Amino acid sequence: MKKDFLSITDLSKKEIIYLVDLAINLKEELISNGENIPYLKNKTLTMIFEKPSLRTRVSFEVAMTQLGGHAINLSPADIGIGKRESIADVSKVISSMTDIIMARVFKHSLIEELAIHSSVPVINGLSDLEHPCQILADLLTIYEIKKNFDGLKIAYLGDSENNVTHSLALASAILGINFITASPSGYWTKKNISQTAKKFAKKNNCQIIETDDPIKAVKNADIIYTDTWISMGDESEKEKRLKIFPKYQVTSKIMSFAKKDAIFMHDMPAYRGQEVTAEVIDGKQSVIFQQAENRLHAQKALLVYLLNNSKLS
Ligand code: NVA
Repeated sequence: MKKDFLSITDLSKKEIIYLVDLAINLKEELISNGENIPYLKNKTLTMIFEKPSLRTRVSFEVAMTQLGGHAINLSPADIGIGKRESIADVSKVISSMTDIIMARVFKHSLIEELAIHSSVPVINGLSDLEHPCQILADLLTIYEIKKNFDGLKIAYLGDSENNVTHSLALASAILGINFITASPSGYWTKKNISQTAKKFAKKNNCQIIETDDPIKAVKNADIIYTDTWISMGDESEKEKRLKIFPKYQVTSKIMSFAKKDAIFMHDMPAYRGQEVTAEVIDGKQSVIFQQAENRLHAQKALLVYLLNNSKLS
């Protein structure tokens, strides 16, 4: 049966660890041999973008090339999904000709509908609700640096009601990582996401905490994470948000409350002087470029896994 990846919760703890491990192996294979085995020879990925993209677009396309397959890019002007043609018709046509689909969309419900009508796996390349591919690369980065996940503490500062925070909270809870967000009121994690995360956390002996106090959040943290205050689709709130969020900017002072060996993470695009100072994001604790490059290695693991998922039941 085909397996979709619409939410990070579509993977169990065992599957996430398997994918991190596979990504490490594929990365090592590429570095030591200068190429990967063509695990996806003759396979085609269709990429649908309703929003701009740098890391997602490049990493998926390069991943397919390096694994011996091919990627097709469809912009809104090409297909007009849900306008020129229904989501169901687009999905049925694409899945009859290509092997896997990745879509970046405004509404999460669009990608759910795409998956319902597709006979091949569908990957969420970012929706208003989740950004699970980003989080796989983040976990790979955290594992490379910290060597395990157990007992870590991630502090997230800024807009907690966004796709990155949602997937990060859920992933942390699945893996047993303590996760604390500090955000202004009105920008806390969506209720159903935080309830799901707390359920997983209870089972996996970790805590999911929400606060409006950035210092409380970062105390003794192993990882400080932030994202833009104005996600794609939130542009109309820009002026309002720029007034509300400055208390949650990641500064050197904020970093000083975390552990000495804490790392700084950001999924990018980053806005220096808004959610983070240039001193922090360009400083020695920042791992943002390792994190960005890991999109490629994590994406490869995901593609190989979804196209051969019978290997792990
Ligand atoms: N939260 C951001 C992530 C960008 C990769 C956005 O949705 O714009």
